[in-house]
Amino acid sequence: MADSPRSFLFLLGSSRTGGNTETLVRAAAEHLEPEAAQRWLRLSDLDLPPFRDLRHLGDGRTPAAEGAEKTLQDATLAATDVVIASPLYWYSVSGSVKNYLDHWSGWLRVPGLDFKARMGGRRLWGVTVQGDEEPDVAEPLAGTLRLSAEYMGMEWRGVLLGYGSRPGQVLRDAAALAAAKTFFTGPRDTGPRDTPGIRY
Ligand SMILES: Cc1cc2nc3c(=O)[nH]c(=O)nc-3n(C[C@H](O)[C@H](O)[C@H](O)COP(=O)(O)O)c2cc1C
Repeated sequence: MADSPRSFLFLLGSSRTGGNTETLVRAAAEHLEPEAAQRWLRLSDLDLPPFRDLRHLGDGRTPAAEGAEKTLQDATLAATDVVIASPLYWYSVSGSVKNYLDHWSGWLRVPGLDFKARMGGRRLWGVTVQGDEEPDVAEPLAGTLRLSAEYMGMEWRGVLLGYGSRPGQVLRDAAALAAAKTFFTGPRDTGPRDTPGIRY
């Protein structure tokens, strides 16, 4: 897919509305170029069925998607940039985000969809907020997203990381709010240790 115009899909993966992850990703999205299209989907609104592994049943193909799965599949394929906005749950992505990513395994096997080939070269981003003040505890989340991007041939763009527990608390995290200003538009040339709020 051509790089221009950019089209961002924001997937909100918290199990509550108005949480810290949503606050942080919306703060970052305010700094996107106005030409960039934005689509926002809240996974908890979509009722995506639990993923079922059909690889070794029958011909191993996944039936064409319908309902919430089709909505998400179409939105994913239409995006140049997929942004996973997941709170840190048990050191990794939330259950709804994990279920969405599990569905990618099925989409790889839908005849004619060419999911992997079409996603190749697009960008994957992460945004997360955690309760713990120790930054390293988000490493499993960052690793899940980074390795998934690599598997898909996508460009991994790192995680914007904030701290907070009660909704709104992330607004006290000055480093995260500063990093949010350039997260989507700045260069990706620094590592986690020297960029507060960003992990690669
Ligand atoms: C099910 C669950 C698991 C959590 N696991 C972690 C965790 O492993 N590490 C951590 O630092 N915070 C953890 N937290 C705290 C959340 O990451 C934190 O409250 C965050 O602000 C929630 O995101 P939200 O405000 O976007 O909903 C957990 C919270 C919940 C509800």
